[in-house]
Amino acid sequence: MSNTPPSPTIYQAAYGTAVNPSLKFKYDSSDPAVGSDPIPYYRSLLASPPIMVERRAIQWGIVSRYHDCVEVLRDHKRYSSVNPNLPGTEDFDAFRGVPVMTFVDPPIHTRLRRVAAPSMAVRRIYDMEPQFRAICGRILDSWSGQSQVDAVRSLAVELPVRVFGHLLDIPERDYDLVRSIGAPGQTLYTDDYLSSRHTYITDLIRRRRARSGGQDLISLAIAAHEADEKINELELFGMVMVLVTGGISTTADSISGALYQMVTRPELLEQLRANPALVPDLIEETLRYDGPVQTLFRVTTEDVEIGGTSIPARTPVYVVTGAANRDPAVFQDPDEFDITRDPNDHLGFGEGVHFCIGAAPARLQGKIAVQMVLERFPHLSIPEGWRPQYAVQAFGRGLKSLPLSLR
Ligand code: HEM
Repeated sequence: MSNTPPSPTIYQAAYGTAVNPSLKFKYDSSDPAVGSDPIPYYRSLLASPPIMVERRAIQWGIVSRYHDCVEVLRDHKRYSSVNPNLPGTEDFDAFRGVPVMTFVDPPIHTRLRRVAAPSMAVRRIYDMEPQFRAICGRILDSWSGQSQVDAVRSLAVELPVRVFGHLLDIPERDYDLVRSIGAPGQTLYTDDYLSSRHTYITDLIRRRRARSGGQDLISLAIAAHEADEKINELELFGMVMVLVTGGISTTADSISGALYQMVTRPELLEQLRANPALVPDLIEETLRYDGPVQTLFRVTTEDVEIGGTSIPARTPVYVVTGAANRDPAVFQDPDEFDITRDPNDHLGFGEGVHFCIGAAPARLQGKIAVQMVLERFPHLSIPEGWRPQYAVQAFGRGLKSLPLSLR
């Protein structure tokens, strides 16, 4: 199928029969109506090959089946991450031109990523488990004596903020800055916003340059930089920004999401309480079933054909990994939340050269947060009748709040 409008069945599955099928299919990941309950959209997307839709007067491709998404994400030559500056593609580049690894292609991407890689190495991060646990312990100390907490505000966001404060080795009095950089909901930065962070972070970079041998994220990047990679000051600033923005709200959403899946399933809660070693499987299944990142963006560099659909050059493409993670061709009973799935090759961290560089710290923080909550608050429950509300962004979604009763 090539550039043809989607069938009426797709409209009906997405919008119900009341929708006039002569309208264009309106899948738009940043639309709150889609983001608050994307699953019906995913089902209709998965029922067909990739489709072309109109959004803000230009054509977009939508790729959603698992194998099609993998093909796109592994082929950075034909599906670029560079903002094409077309109407509606602002979400491609939250940093408005500051070079960051997420929004560049190899070879620049390879150079930038190599500078950040040593600070995110799996072994290095897992060696920090005792420090991460101590940070989480101090956060949970503030829960004692309370009968109910909002786990989003008082744990899920706070843990990655303090972990980043620690990784960047900045004084606690400046944690508000980290908090503001990573604030959930921040997707497109203004000039004022960028320039105030630029002042603080470049000052940090200068001070770290003056003191060699540091093991913090910036010192490690500077060491890699000076060894051979040669990235400039603006790129170093972009690197700190992309790690902090990429790492806080996503990690927060995965922690609150995992807690939510757990507390709304009494048998699962019991199982995890009895065997906390299963918590990493809870984290993985949450990333598949309803992860923080649901849609990635690419742009075609040439005419392509994917899953039988032709997409012209210079067309932005939604890669709906949230749908791919529910593809019945790959995941048996995809709408079942099942922590025993094996394998569980979800696309929650992406695929290909841009695969999430922060997967190790994210997984570790998720594991620690859930295990420590279970250890300290065994009578955990969710208030009856509470319904989740989501903060929706173009690339994904996360819980706005998560009330937990502790007794
Ligand atoms: C559960 C939490 C997280 C999720 C679900 C997540 C998800 C993702 C996904 C899907 C991508 C691929 C983007 C693309 O292909 O366009 C990605 C890339 C990235 N993530 Fe994460 N992420 C998480 C945590 C983190 C953390 C903790 C950090 C920082 C320490 C981080 C930093 C980055 C960066 C810098 C990239 C770009 C990598 C590249 O372009 O090579 N993320 N992430």
